[in-house]
Amino acid sequence: MKLCISTTLLAAALAIVGCSTAPKASKSIEQVMDEGFKGKESLCAKVSKGQGSAQDLETMVGLTYQLTLNTPPKGDLASWTEKTTALHAAAKALAAGAPGAADQWKSAVNCKACHSVHKPD
Ligand code: HEC
Repeated sequence: MKLCISTTLLAAALAIVGCSTAPKASKSIEQVMDEGFKGKESLCAKVSKGQGSAQDLETMVGLTYQLTLNTPPKGDLASWTEKTTALHAAAKALAAGAPGAADQWKSAVNCKACHSVHKPD
């Protein structure tokens, strides 16, 4: 009986630890879209034209990381994870000045490809 109780407590403790260490998104997808992607003068537009400063690129790395932590309102999570991870990797490549980063970014930042699967009407 004693063993039974302590096992339950252990499980509860593990559940709490698991909860507090798993990173949670601090920005919603809408917030990220509004802050970084919306409109012709957006951070994303600047970055895509190769006009982003080092600070802009860092901001984009952070915003795309937030996307990876979110759950899409539509479409399956595997597809979302694939798209957002690619986008985040491309932002990091740009920030690091990696060769081919601009092309990597262009293919990953396809608004329509993502919206058609994950954005509700
Ligand atoms: C990796 C996926 C993804 C990419 C890439 C993406 N979006 Fe989005 N976007 C979304 C999702 C998902 C939503 C819907 C969020 C919701 O309704 O919760 C959204 C919503 C939006 C919104 C509406 C925000 C609001 O306040 O309701 C705008 C504007 C937007 N996106 C612009 C863009 C533009 C412009 C691009 C390309 C330069 C882009 N997005 C690229 C996933 C993406």
